[in-house]
Amino acid sequence: MDHFHYRDGALWCEDVPLARIAEEVGTPVYVYSAGAFRRHARVFREALEPAGDVHLAYAIKANPNLAVLRLLAAEGYGADVVSGGEMARALAAGIPAAGIVFSGVGKTEAELARGLDAGIGQFNLELEEEGVVLARLAREKGVTARAVLRVNPDVDAGTHAKISTGKRENKFGVPIDQAPAMFARLAALPGLDLRGVAIHIGSQLFDIAPLEAAYARVKRLVDDLRAAGHRITHVDLGGGLGVRYKAGDVPTEPADYGAMVARATRGWDATLMFEPGRVIAGNAGVLLTRVIWVKPGVVHPYIIVDAAMNDLARPALYDAWHDFDAVVPTGDRMTANIAGPVCETGDTFAMAREVDAVKGGDLAVFRTAGAYGATMASTYNSRALVPEVLVDGDRYAVVADRISAETILAAERVPEWLA
Ligand code: LLP
Repeated sequence: MDHFHYRDGALWCEDVPLARIAEEVGTPVYVYSAGAFRRHARVFREALEPAGDVHLAYAIKANPNLAVLRLLAAEGYGADVVSGGEMARALAAGIPAAGIVFSGVGKTEAELARGLDAGIGQFNLELEEEGVVLARLAREKGVTARAVLRVNPDVDAGTHAKISTGKRENKFGVPIDQAPAMFARLAALPGLDLRGVAIHIGSQLFDIAPLEAAYARVKRLVDDLRAAGHRITHVDLGGGLGVRYKAGDVPTEPADYGAMVARATRGWDATLMFEPGRVIAGNAGVLLTRVIWVKPGVVHPYIIVDAAMNDLARPALYDAWHDFDAVVPTGDRMTANIAGPVCETGDTFAMAREVDAVKGGDLAVFRTAGAYGATMASTYNSRALVPEVLVDGDRYAVVADRISAETILAAERVPEWLA
């Protein structure tokens, strides 16, 4: 079921017309479907049922809005966090500390200490020194830190270079061949309960063969660690499942992924942990925008919209494709470039794209913007920080305000020697 659908010639989110949100909240604005979030959360959970004992930690970097986190907490999801800020959000949303996994290649000592104080469930260690610091902090606080060691399995995830994380030249994890010796040294430290290993090889993966290859390497490592006498109770298999952004994209279905996981991990006798982000959030949101004008171009006209690269950075950063559809399509089509108002050429969403014909004042959406959308927004060009709306049936709420350029200006000051 598509939670963004046309009804009487206009695009709705669940039972709310997008035109009403544009009218009442203004544009640009992210619009999320609560129904889509719930459905994705359940589909992913059910897909992994054949894999046995599973802990789901939603990668909140994909969409950390408090209302979204609350909704996923109600679905029984824990959280994968990568900063003190994300940890605070997860806790504020009511996600139990025990269900929180703290990932990230550069956790500071202060962040580790806050994690211990909060009693979070697991620290995913990225290097030996981090484990040494964590063990010392835990001893000082008289607690035990539950942790796993993130290994770099050196597989090519076959995704965009900027979101690939499991090749040995990437900054993440410890080389898998060094892991056994490192594990032994860390496991010996008082204060640390080193209970397993973790991997995450990249994001927006269509082909799950690299994941299966990585799991096989993890299995050999787990066998070696057990043979050396270590107790391995948890294996964190990360996130990474891709979603459909455009016609012709064929992402792996969660059920097929779940079947592969069940096959690859049979007999592991450990709690499997997952950190899904995009697969939960991606298709649960759109960026609603208004066409400012259609500017004649040399080859194709430019559709200039009121959303820009500061609101949705993915096209500028990764040449990512987001479908562009009119909220009230006329049936006519046009070939155009689509760009925002920001003063750089990189602020382009699409070139020579065939889209619904639009004119100045019309509303349109960029699809599949629920993941890595609002969370990556900035105020570049002194534009407002984009607001977020959550639709649930026939209700909607503004779940993040538009932060105006004036509010941001109010947080700046001129030192008295320049006044
Ligand atoms: N776990 C770890 C340790 C991660 O680094 C990530 C994503 C995830 C889980 C979630 O991966 P997912 O299931 O969402 O693929 N901004 C980029 C994506 C960056 C992903 C970074 N890490 C984009 O817009 O495509």
